[in-house]
Amino acid sequence: KEESKLDLISRCIRPFPDFPSEGILFRDICPIMKSPAALTAVIDLFEQHVLECHPVVDLIVGIDARGFLFGPLLAQRLGVGFVMVRKKGKLPGPTVSVAYTLEYGTAEAEVQEDSVSPGQKVILIDDLLATGGTLFAACELMKKLLAEVLGCLVVVSLKDLSGADKLKPHTVFPLIQY
Ligand code: PRP
Ligand code: ADE
Repeated sequence: KEESKLDLISRCIRPFPDFPSEGILFRDICPIMKSPAALTAVIDLFEQHVLECHPVVDLIVGIDARGFLFGPLLAQRLGVGFVMVRKKGKLPGPTVSVAYTLEYGTAEAEVQEDSVSPGQKVILIDDLLATGGTLFAACELMKKLLAEVLGCLVVVSLKDLSGADKLKPHTVFPLIQY
């Protein structure tokens, strides 16, 4: 049964060579969003993992922008709140920020200072793990706020880019690996 959920999801991920720049094989998750069954399967598998491995969680923290597609749905399932890590300059009020590099560029991530309280247990979520630069930056932001990162969830992980190594000791739970 679970294998079929993974099949359903993997059939909704399309490769686009040389996007957004030459040499990058872009894994497009847009078809997941067009398929209610595939999107439900993603949230089902994340929910199951969290209930099994992290039964006590305070907040789901999603990464701008594609982490926002899955994070709120999972948070609602779990009955917990959702927090946004955004690209710099988008969040009002006091924030903390950190610069990072990703597979095809550089960026700066930001979170509101009062979004997570010291000691709160959080799970980070994004659509895809490549070099790990983005999720590493999000972990740094959580560290600044004295939050406890229980783990990271991604729909897709690109093995060759070793993002999971960069995130150690934090764990990554991917649904699909390439
Ligand atoms: C993509 C993806 C991840 C990140 C992964 O985001 O959604 O957040 O890259 O790459 P990394 O592991 O090498 O850091 P992008 O910055 O393109 O933003 P978007 O979600 O707004 O399209
Ligand atoms: N973010 C970073 N690398 C990516 C890739 N290869 N496909 C989709 N999103 C990405």
